[in-house]
Amino acid sequence: MPDFNLSVNGERVVARNVAPDTPLLWVLRDTLGLVGTKFGCGLAQCGACTVQIDGEPMRSCVYPVSAVGDKAITTIEGLASEVSLHPLQQAWIDLDVPQCGYCQAGQLMSAAALLAKNPQPSDADIDAAMAGNYCRCATYNRIRAAVHTAAETLQKQGGDRETV
Ligand code: FES
Ligand code: FES
Repeated sequence: MPDFNLSVNGERVVARNVAPDTPLLWVLRDTLGLVGTKFGCGLAQCGACTVQIDGEPMRSCVYPVSAVGDKAITTIEGLASEVSLHPLQQAWIDLDVPQCGYCQAGQLMSAAALLAKNPQPSDADIDAAMAGNYCRCATYNRIRAAVHTAAETLQKQGGDRETV
């Protein structure tokens, strides 16, 4: 079986001896040891397995590794910078968003993709962007609040940079 040269969280990695139709989720978890991304339904229905591929939220449970090519994969392990959590992660902590936590890596990856495109989303924007990420613990209201909090943090950080 072939090897796949992948870009994961800003690093080049090689996934060896992998069948081309293997879902990216299993390559991340089993081959590369990045177990932050979760398996839920395996059918692109729940969003637990969401990662970003070239900045777009994708369901890694149905994304064949052979389709990745040179695209940049970002997983929950790559969301924080070397010096600080992503503002979304900090807001998730500050607002106690997770309950069981199982869905939250996927929620964060979808939310991060949203804020990258739309820095000041409305409730409706958030609900639309997060509609494919299910939470069996129904943390939706806290997720929405935390996305707004992170958006405010990012706006402030942008303003701080402009005044430096
Ligand atoms: S595990 Fe991929 S969408 Fe549910
Ligand atoms: S926090 Fe439990 S499924 Fe979302």
